[in-house]
Amino acid sequence: MRSIALALPVMAGLIVACQNADPKDPEGFAVLPEGFDDVEIGRVLHLSPLPAHATDPTNRWSDDEGAARFGQLLFFDERLSKGEQHSCATCHLPDHGFADAHTVSEGVARLERHVPTLLNIAHHRWFFWDGRADSLWSQACAVIEAPLEMAGTRLGTAHLIASDDRLRERYEAMFGPLPSLQDTERFPLVGRPVPKDDPAYGDDGSHGKPGASGQEHHTHAAGNTFFHPHERNWNAMTDADRAAVNDVFANVGKALAAYQHRLVAIDSPFDRFVRGLRSGDAEDLAALSPSAQRGLHLFVGEANCFLCHSGPLLSDREFHDLRLPPGDGPVDDLGRQRGLEKVVADPFNGRGAWSDDVVAGSEMLDYLPQHHHANFEFKTPSLRNVALSPPYMHQGQFATLRDVVDFYSELEGARTSPPSVETVVVPLRLDEEQKQDLVAFLESLTGTLPAKTWRTPFQAESNE
Ligand code: HEC
Ligand code: HEC
Repeated sequence: MRSIALALPVMAGLIVACQNADPKDPEGFAVLPEGFDDVEIGRVLHLSPLPAHATDPTNRWSDDEGAARFGQLLFFDERLSKGEQHSCATCHLPDHGFADAHTVSEGVARLERHVPTLLNIAHHRWFFWDGRADSLWSQACAVIEAPLEMAGTRLGTAHLIASDDRLRERYEAMFGPLPSLQDTERFPLVGRPVPKDDPAYGDDGSHGKPGASGQEHHTHAAGNTFFHPHERNWNAMTDADRAAVNDVFANVGKALAAYQHRLVAIDSPFDRFVRGLRSGDAEDLAALSPSAQRGLHLFVGEANCFLCHSGPLLSDREFHDLRLPPGDGPVDDLGRQRGLEKVVADPFNGRGAWSDDVVAGSEMLDYLPQHHHANFEFKTPSLRNVALSPPYMHQGQFATLRDVVDFYSELEGARTSPPSVETVVVPLRLDEEQKQDLVAFLESLTGTLPAKTWRTPFQAESNE
């Protein structure tokens, strides 16, 4: 007890909690697996509990119940996508840890990366595997228009809300009146900006070349160029009308974010165990099997997992290159390097016109390194609830947790060229029992799912 208090002198609340446990009580710390030293126990205590997440200052609706319920309607609504076959829940399946079982996912087209879980997502600071979004709401806006995912458009989204009484009434009650969308001369039924590197230019097989599939040429002073039909519609609108549609689109993103803020899954056997460490409660301490306790010991000790899977999210919320073998996605996915470029250029980022707090929103972006350094880096996933959502890694490279642990042990198939800038990951050479122990620990991180009313499509009748 004494040494734990010394190891964590700043965590005053914790020390008080520790004092509640009788140091002489054999049921208290006596059940710790052998070998944990004070420093390691200190590391364990840093991993739990997961506190309530901070509100997002750039989204003033982020903790609003009405916005969350509106966002829930949208989350399960396939009409947001081109062809009306994909809702968010098509890929983020509530029964699969809000992820899916594919290696790389299938949307309107085949995607390049694996679907991450949305459980406890509000705790992250960057979104997507490459962190190209700096908020949950800008992430949602991006995915609705992503050509391979939902291939929707912001004009289409605004028209959907205007045309559906249930959506329109809820929207207007919260965000105020919609623009005069019934005037389709001013507000075409579909349209969005289409950047020149957008895969949509190639979605008809034309690979962005003008002239294919009847797309019109458009000549202007700079020479011969062509506009995607969605872009033509968008460009034909007045600045004020475009801004009004962007307002609706940002609000849709903010409501989807408010919904995802509800997707909390905590109180795992591991959390109960750590609670037991603090209180000495024998039942809580018994929540973790001896094997999982040995796995935890490896995690915070010899195997060094805690270096990146740190803090109560079990993620440092940053990006690393594990030199993973190729999966079903492209071999030249540069990850964070591209994400860095995209996040600063995103008009819906935290310092943009649709942010509710540009000062707070700028803080994260102003200090981003812009030099070329982050090739092949991907976001450290949270390991909470990890057993619920196989396969693993950004291209679903590994089917099971055991496969993941095998990789960290042997680094078999690891990329050698180009070399990684990091050397944190070295082969651990674990034996069979150690591998089983680590897997047992990872399996102990499954928490209690959010209430069913948040995991299923919103039913106004039964929920309200
Ligand atoms: C076609 C499948 C598909 C659909 C539909 C889809 N997603 Fe995703 N989602 C993905 C994939 C794949 C990624 C990872 C992409 C990447 O990192 O480049 C992702 C990433 C995310 C992330 C980032 C998670 C993290 O850890 O950074 C969030 C949040 C998210 N999606 C929410 C949504 C919402 C909200 C919707 C509906 C508006 C949605 N998704 C629709 C497949 C999908
Ligand atoms: C250098 C930082 C680092 C260290 C050390 C590290 N990880 Fe990871 N871990 C990551 C990153 C980054 C990813 C995602 C990599 C990717 O997809 O490109 C990841 C992915 C995972 C995943 C897959 C999660 C998912 O949802 O796909 C598991 C499980 C995991 N790590 C467990 C461990 C264990 C166990 C250890 C210790 C043996 C460990 N990690 C050590 C950074 C690290």
